[in-house]
Amino acid sequence: MEPLIRLNNVSFTGQNVRIIQKVNLDIDEGKTTALVGASGCGKSTLLKLCAGLLIPTSGEVYYRGKNISSMNRQQTMEFRRESAFVFQDSALWANQTLYQSLELPLKIHHPEFSGEQRKERIRQVMSEVGCRRDLHTRPSSLSMGEQKLIAFARAIMCGPALLFLDEWTESLDDNAAGRLVSLVKRRQVDNNTIVFVSHNPALVKSLAQIVIVVIGGYVYLKLTTDQIREDSDLAELVEKGNA
Ligand SMILES: Nc1ncnc2c1ncn2[C@@H]1O[C@H](COP(=O)(O)OP(=O)(O)OP(=O)(O)O)[C@@H](O)[C@H]1O
Ligand SMILES: [Mg+2]
Repeated sequence: MEPLIRLNNVSFTGQNVRIIQKVNLDIDEGKTTALVGASGCGKSTLLKLCAGLLIPTSGEVYYRGKNISSMNRQQTMEFRRESAFVFQDSALWANQTLYQSLELPLKIHHPEFSGEQRKERIRQVMSEVGCRRDLHTRPSSLSMGEQKLIAFARAIMCGPALLFLDEWTESLDDNAAGRLVSLVKRRQVDNNTIVFVSHNPALVKSLAQIVIVVIGGYVYLKLTTDQIREDSDLAELVEKGNA
């Protein structure tokens, strides 16, 4: 079966530094894939390359067999509608209210929705993620954890079949993290494709079917979670990135 996403010999250079080096990688549809590795090894960069948010310096990224760099506007819009991204730093718009941030994806991808329908959908998603904040404030008045909740809510607003999550439970309390994990598990039941980055071995073990170990910008190993016997094995592999 054709992979949902294929990276073909992808390298990425930023400010003259090679961050990602000749990566060949397939992401399978309907599976959950975790990217793990030491701080600074290139996980966030690789995730953004998979999502088409960064363009490779060399090599190609394919989505359903189509090179992301040469998609036309309509194909790009379809890809964007099907996918969503939770950024490591949440990346909420500083000059917009939370409500505006949550409403924008609905305005773009569901222009047929009325203001009332958007309001109802936002209310529903906020209750799913368990956030009771006043949405007419700006992100700067939120804690990091609260920003993560809003970022996650924004990502699932249009029901994406493909979800990219970068350190998405970091800075959340156990209850809030647990709620987001169960929302992801529900998406797994629906056969969504999830690609996530995490430093938490227990989370990787409980959610991922495939684990990609990144070391120094290379894909060092691709394993199924069955091949990882203990949490300590994962930690050991990640530790190698520091060596
Ligand atoms: N646009 C850029 N220009 C120059 N260097 C960059 C750029 N983006 C990232 N880097 C550098 O590339 C390396 C990999 O960054 P990246 O954010 O992908 O790592 P990471 O594995 O996600 O780290 P962490 O676990 O700390 O989130 C880091 O050394 C970072 O400073
Ligand atoms: Mg990162």
